[in-house]
Amino acid sequence: MSNLNTEQVLSVHHWNDSLFSFKTTRSPGLRFANGQFVMIGLQVEDRPLMRAYSIASPNYEEYLEFFSIKVPNGPLTSRLQHLQVGDSIQISKKPTGTLLVDDLLPGKHLYLLGTGTGLAPYISLIQDPDVYERYEKVILVHGVRYANELAYADFITQELPNNEFFGELAREKLIYYPTVTREQFKNQGRITELMRSGKLFSDIGLPPINPQDDRAMLCGSPAMLDDLSVMLSEDFGLRVSPRVGEPADFVIERAFVEK
Ligand code: A2P
Repeated sequence: MSNLNTEQVLSVHHWNDSLFSFKTTRSPGLRFANGQFVMIGLQVEDRPLMRAYSIASPNYEEYLEFFSIKVPNGPLTSRLQHLQVGDSIQISKKPTGTLLVDDLLPGKHLYLLGTGTGLAPYISLIQDPDVYERYEKVILVHGVRYANELAYADFITQELPNNEFFGELAREKLIYYPTVTREQFKNQGRITELMRSGKLFSDIGLPPINPQDDRAMLCGSPAMLDDLSVMLSEDFGLRVSPRVGEPADFVIERAFVEK
């Protein structure tokens, strides 16, 4: 039996020249925890060409949503960016991943730290009422090079607060902090710099990260993950979860590969 489901593309949204999102059908048997990823891909010369993609939709929706970069010569994304409504796509049947709220010890604040398409798992998590139940504040920090890469900004600031089920919780608890590194913007600089200088914390009105109150998830490029995890451990005293099922102060998604 195949370990892949064949799904159909329901819609495609291009954010700019280099980023797009798409929704697909969801086989009823596919169960996942918000924050997890699946392998998705296309048949290329009769073989499946698969890459890890975080699921951006929450696990109670009937569809699946993904957020992707377009790499001009990328083996998969050079093809994926041309997806049309009705096209078929392969999706693995076993979601997996480390960005699980169950792998974080109880705390007051949850920091969701992402760069580029590392935002994707957080779009799922910020639509999970359980996440708001567990924390007093949920801080979503999205670092990008240019302001037009701030995908989902309108969704986060306009739609989520009006969600009929958890809009009130999101209004009370969710802090969205977009930051841009290569042009003028209201918040500027790498996440690492903003944390080191303390500017992030003064801007959002919370004390610097500490192991008593704060938990974090990291998703981004390998360099970002390395720098941020060293900083969280050595400068802020948080402990990383060594593996799924062993809760600690922060978790890291290392599934990122060239697409
Ligand atoms: P910068 O413009 O200074 O490289 P990328 O598209 O390369 O993944 O970058 C997305 C965002 O992540 C950019 O704002 C980039 O900043 C930032 N970034 C890249 N490397 C790191 C790192 N090691 N630590 C923190 N942020 C990083």
